[in-house]
Amino acid sequence: MTAPPGSSTPRPVIQARRLSVHYRRRARHWWGRASEVRAVDQLDLNLHPGETLGIVGESGCGKSTLARALIGLVPVTRGSVEINGQDITRFNAAQWRALRRQVQFVFQDPLASLDPRMTVGQAITEPMMSLCPEWGAAERQRRMAELMERVGLSAALQNRYPHEFSGGQCQRVGIARALAVEPSILICDEPVSALDVSVQAQIVNLLRSLQRERGLSMLFIAHDLAVVRHLSDRIMVMYLGRVMEQAQTDALFESPRHPYTRALLASIPRPDRPLPTDEERLSGELPSAAMVHPGCVFASRCPIAEGLCSMQPPPVHRHRNGSAACHFIGGNAAMSSTVLSRPLGV
Ligand SMILES: Nc1ncnc2c1ncn2[C@@H]1O[C@H](COP(=O)(O)OP(=O)(O)OP(=O)(O)O)[C@@H](O)[C@H]1O
Ligand SMILES: [Mg+2]
Repeated sequence: MTAPPGSSTPRPVIQARRLSVHYRRRARHWWGRASEVRAVDQLDLNLHPGETLGIVGESGCGKSTLARALIGLVPVTRGSVEINGQDITRFNAAQWRALRRQVQFVFQDPLASLDPRMTVGQAITEPMMSLCPEWGAAERQRRMAELMERVGLSAALQNRYPHEFSGGQCQRVGIARALAVEPSILICDEPVSALDVSVQAQIVNLLRSLQRERGLSMLFIAHDLAVVRHLSDRIMVMYLGRVMEQAQTDALFESPRHPYTRALLASIPRPDRPLPTDEERLSGELPSAAMVHPGCVFASRCPIAEGLCSMQPPPVHRHRNGSAACHFIGGNAAMSSTVLSRPLGV
């Protein structure tokens, strides 16, 4: 990846600035009012060349919407997305086509992402046919068989249909399909959540070796914090469409700064650690993304929130290893310093 002139750090391969994706929900009754779901709200993101950025957060916080918006699968409401320096919100058909070869996506729902009328062999060769016309039929066949074996499926299964496979096998087909055109950026939305533990390890190891061999840049979304930790160089913690904290992986696990990150990490059961205290435990449900939050979106569940938190958006406090958005991190932590300074032992 080339750096912009006069700059020492390489340009991010994906860069989002104040990205918002709002869905309009129709009113349930004719007299009701339509609402707007702020699935992603004013979010900044950088994915650097060769880096794996993990994205974590509770169900419904906007992870899939963010991933889809970054490659134009859902329309951007406001803000910008650049891939390799090009603004994708202004792309024409030819530019989209070129982008599909560079960026591939592994979907959260493996069965739904495969065409039921195609055999798995066809599903894997199809993107090669449309995006890599320079590869002939024999070359495509060779690559398809190799990819199937690489994701732990026998090439002898290539003539079967998706409905004949388990969810885990379909996910492996989805991963093989995404890798078929040798992308430089891979966006994985919960790629291993449908897999049993042994297959999960196989896929995670495969992704790790691809990172090393090809310098793949990867966005990796998962519920399982242990898997995210294993694969990611950096982690971004989302809550209700916003970034709460982002930091280098070790720094985030060793000294989480945001109360939401602390609560997420404290929820990982560990035999050598006492159960989380009330201040660390996350109680209640994620609030509705259709509500407008003038202050911090986490205020209603935050163990250290004060009146200010629900009224004013939190400042972003930057530090050596990342940043966190909270009123009580940095210089003005006096009121809540006891909670935030207590070691978690994660
Ligand atoms: N097509 C849609 N129309 C309206 N609302 C939607 C749509 N897709 C998602 N949402 C809403 O947007 C919010 C974010 O959803 P999203 O699927 O991005 O979350 P997520 O973090 O990926 O959740 P999960 O971990 O369960 O996959 C949720 O409130 C969801 O209900
Ligand atoms: Mg999702």
